Amino acid sequence: MNKSKEIIIFDTTLRDGEQAPGCSMTLGEKLKIAHALKDLNVNVIEAGFAAASPGDFESVKAIASEIEGPTICCLARCNEGDIEKAQQALEVSPNGRIHVFVATSEIHLKHKLNMAKDEVIKAAYNGVKMAKEYCENVEFSPEDASRTDHDFLTEVVNAAIEAGATTINIPDTVGYTIPYEFGELFKHLITNCNNAEDVIFSVHCHDDLGLSVANSLAALESGAQQVECTINGIGERAGNTSLEEVCMAIRTRKEYFDFYTSIDSTKLYPTSRLVSTITGMHVPRNKAIVGDNAFSHEAGIHQHGMLRHASTYEIMKPQDVGIGRSNLVLGKHSGRHAFLDRVKELGYELSNEDLDPAFGEFKKLADRKKDIFDSDIEAIVLSADGGTLSTWELIDLETSSGSSWGACAELKLKHFDGSTHEVSTAEQPSSGPIESVFNAIEEITGYNLELTNFEIHSVSVGEDAQGEVTVTVSYEGQDFRGHGISTDIIESGALAYLEVINRIERNRNRH
Ligand code: KIV
Ligand code: ZN
Repeated sequence: MNKSKEIIIFDTTLRDGEQAPGCSMTLGEKLKIAHALKDLNVNVIEAGFAAASPGDFESVKAIASEIEGPTICCLARCNEGDIEKAQQALEVSPNGRIHVFVATSEIHLKHKLNMAKDEVIKAAYNGVKMAKEYCENVEFSPEDASRTDHDFLTEVVNAAIEAGATTINIPDTVGYTIPYEFGELFKHLITNCNNAEDVIFSVHCHDDLGLSVANSLAALESGAQQVECTINGIGERAGNTSLEEVCMAIRTRKEYFDFYTSIDSTKLYPTSRLVSTITGMHVPRNKAIVGDNAFSHEAGIHQHGMLRHASTYEIMKPQDVGIGRSNLVLGKHSGRHAFLDRVKELGYELSNEDLDPAFGEFKKLADRKKDIFDSDIEAIVLSADGGTLSTWELIDLETSSGSSWGACAELKLKHFDGSTHEVSTAEQPSSGPIESVFNAIEEITGYNLELTNFEIHSVSVGEDAQGEVTVTVSYEGQDFRGHGISTDIIESGALAYLEVINRIERNRNRH
């Protein structure tokens, strides 16, 4: 008899993940990620916090109307306004969930909410009751639960269950707990809360001490049946539990954990790349499961073992997570079919509106570069944005530089109203071509940005490899990221800087 139980995968990339500095996304980008999450087979998508802004409201509504299959969840504080907004955003979905929360730790009660304990219990009860009027499926979270007195936490959870909550989520909001302690907390709640057997217990961890996956697994072992996580572990501060790590731990150690998930693990890598491209948050090379080095073996002794038998040093196969690289390269004689076949083999889907521009980019690249590798194709697919309007577009760029005099740039941009704008920085040479290009972009667009990070890495191999530039800027106290890819790294820089400006523009329109 198979006793194992299914763990519900609750993805919060679009809500808690989006709260990471610089990770805000447009509606179109959120929809792309929501489709990828559905294909990955997550059970619940937390689409946003509808009351936070009109843009968030529209995103939750659009996801709720377009995505069929997973439950679509919306966050709300325990007040009427938030809960009504969540309901309005979700009403189009047959499968909605309202997720209400209130903080419960002494520290939050005293310094944030200025509320007494009995008021918090009342807020939890009333919040769940209100949500319940609109929606059968209600989740409740006592924020900062891991730093809350256990007896008080039990009382709050009892109130939420009594009011009708169907899922009780226990967050380690500040990433403070450690695995054994957190497992014990779940055992305590499941043993002591009234009617605990009628609700699903859920775990939600942050990674401040690098323990979020371990803490989540400890909670699952102690009776939690839902895990909240994000793609690439993105989220506030050090991030949230990484979906790919927790799911692959469960899958790889299935003889140890007596549970499983519905996740299609072969979609993990493409989804990870999609999220990193959209948010501009690079996946570190050594990141478990989806980092570039996750399946590379450098030491001679390891390579020798691998050649004899992969299981000597590999506990998972790259193909298990969707890294199914082929050695076949495409080139300028490859047609639309070959391009589309490879896109599918790599685990990506291209919508009809994205296919033409993506194939056009492929042809352009093939004129500049002899061999097109899988990573080049991936970069083209992930940058395809046939549906996203940009305020500024690069038309032409020329730079010159010399070690004795510095550098200058000539730049031509097109505004989406159809006008073109040109500028030359010849009269004010700067220290390098990137600085000149950024100055030229700022002169045309009228922005004055503070560049806080600039990264460049090669997308594939060879001297004609494409360079991918990611820039982070600070603008009016907010971080924005952008990335650009080209065989010319100065052009990559220009595209990345323009993407940042286009994001700022979209963000302004959204609010
Ligand atoms: O970390 C946290 O406490 C949260 C809650 C809103 C669930 O994200
Ligand atoms: Zn959180």
